[in-house]
Amino acid sequence: MESLVPKSLATPFHQLGQADFAEIVQLRDHVLASLPHPDCYVSGPDEDAVIQAHLGQAGVTFGARIGSRLIAYAALSLDIDDAHLDPEFHHAIVARSVNGDLARDRCAVLAVAMVHADFRGRHLHREAIRRRLQFARANGRSDIVAMVSPHNAPCLHNLVAEGFRVQDVIGFPDGRERYFLRGNPA
Ligand SMILES: CC(C)(COP(=O)(O)OP(=O)(O)OC[C@H]1O[C@@H](n2cnc3c(N)ncnc32)[C@H](O)[C@@H]1OP(=O)(O)O)[C@@H](O)C(=O)NCCC(=O)NCCS
Repeated sequence: MESLVPKSLATPFHQLGQADFAEIVQLRDHVLASLPHPDCYVSGPDEDAVIQAHLGQAGVTFGARIGSRLIAYAALSLDIDDAHLDPEFHHAIVARSVNGDLARDRCAVLAVAMVHADFRGRHLHREAIRRRLQFARANGRSDIVAMVSPHNAPCLHNLVAEGFRVQDVIGFPDGRERYFLRGNPA
């Protein structure tokens, strides 16, 4: 399905680089200050490092703009050991690669996705999922995984709409629960 943002207003998701770091931080801070539910995104010890890691070292980030203004970004992890994933999520991926059917060398992770509050409900997230799947598959990664809070209905809805299915529920030491989702192998 096409984005609801008129093409004349929003650029398609394009790969971001180091020069975009400050703008990504600014958008992240805006989104974290206005989460629909605090469980939707629980910050880790170094969120700047998460952004940095997805600007080349451990993955890639795609952004959408209106004019020159960044209104959405989404990250894809390609190196699960260096992507600053939650330890429980990392463990779940590794365990499945050792004991299960997940091929680690063909695995990629849909990591962070942030859409500015003024631009939600316009399918930017759906577009960001598709852009990352396209990139992952073009780079030989067909095992795409994601982790979502049960309180994040739009995120879960979009992943399921794009073919992901909940495979498990991960428990965190602080009582949090997260759905572990797998995409359809291409
Ligand atoms: C989650 C988030 C990325 C979604 O972005 P978005 O661009 O607004 O999402 P979309 O427009 O692509 O899709 C919204 C979908 O969710 C659906 N939705 C919204 N609320 C819903 C609910 N309570 N239950 C079920 N579906 C819901 C909408 O109907 C729409 O689906 P449709 O187009 O099939 O009708 C955005 O809300 C956000 O940035 N949230 C804060 C940060 C966050 O939680 N990030 C994800 C974790 S990293």
